[in-house]
Amino acid sequence: MEFLELTKIRRSAINFQSDIKISSSELQEIFEVVKTHPSSYNIQTTHYYVAMSQEKKALVKEASNNQHKIFSASATIIVCGDSEGYKEAPRLYEGMKMLGIMDELEFNYTIHTINKLYTDNPKLIEEDNIRNACLSAMLFMLAAKDKGWDTCPMHVHNVEKIKEIYHIPKNHQPVLMISLGKSVENKIRPRGYRKPVNEFVHFVD
Ligand SMILES: Cc1cc2nc3c(=O)[nH]c(=O)nc-3n(C[C@H](O)[C@H](O)[C@H](O)COP(=O)(O)O)c2cc1C
Repeated sequence: MEFLELTKIRRSAINFQSDIKISSSELQEIFEVVKTHPSSYNIQTTHYYVAMSQEKKALVKEASNNQHKIFSASATIIVCGDSEGYKEAPRLYEGMKMLGIMDELEFNYTIHTINKLYTDNPKLIEEDNIRNACLSAMLFMLAAKDKGWDTCPMHVHNVEKIKEIYHIPKNHQPVLMISLGKSVENKIRPRGYRKPVNEFVHFVD
């Protein structure tokens, strides 16, 4: 689909048709697009936890603020940031070194820079987890829409309970919940007011 058209038709779904299932392979196709999202130093700290069964979605709905769409969705997903993700940098950069895209010196310098930035800096780790996850999640929602699926982003309430339901490890910090499915067609809210560009863009020179 043409990009501008895609951004226009992506809406936050009010509710989903409850009888629609999505297959793992369809989700896989969406995640293949998501792989290309930007992240700080390309450390790819974002992880997705996907619940598709009625049982799990019912638990998630109950643990959240009871919005029906969490249950009626084909999948309800928790987007997380890995607070130890930066430690994977050597593995993530290894291939570039092997292929000669990076020499040994550049490789060592990059790993050193990443470690220096994040070691003992939990505030930056948390902030960058959120930055990386939000950029990834936006791409997820656009990729889903491009393949005919609607989404709705939400806060994660009751974080500890949600982590228990999805078996999310301690070092993965929930950032967003996204429900995905086929929107109920007669339930589409009018596009909310958008500020004109000059109210949110500040040309400084
Ligand atoms: C952090 C966040 C939390 C949100 N929580 C909810 C929610 O709980 N329920 C809901 O229906 N929409 C939720 N939304 C969707 C917004 O209401 C929606 O994006 C906004 O109204 C603009 O509508 P649009 O996405 O259709 O353009 C949330 C969006 C964000 C970014």
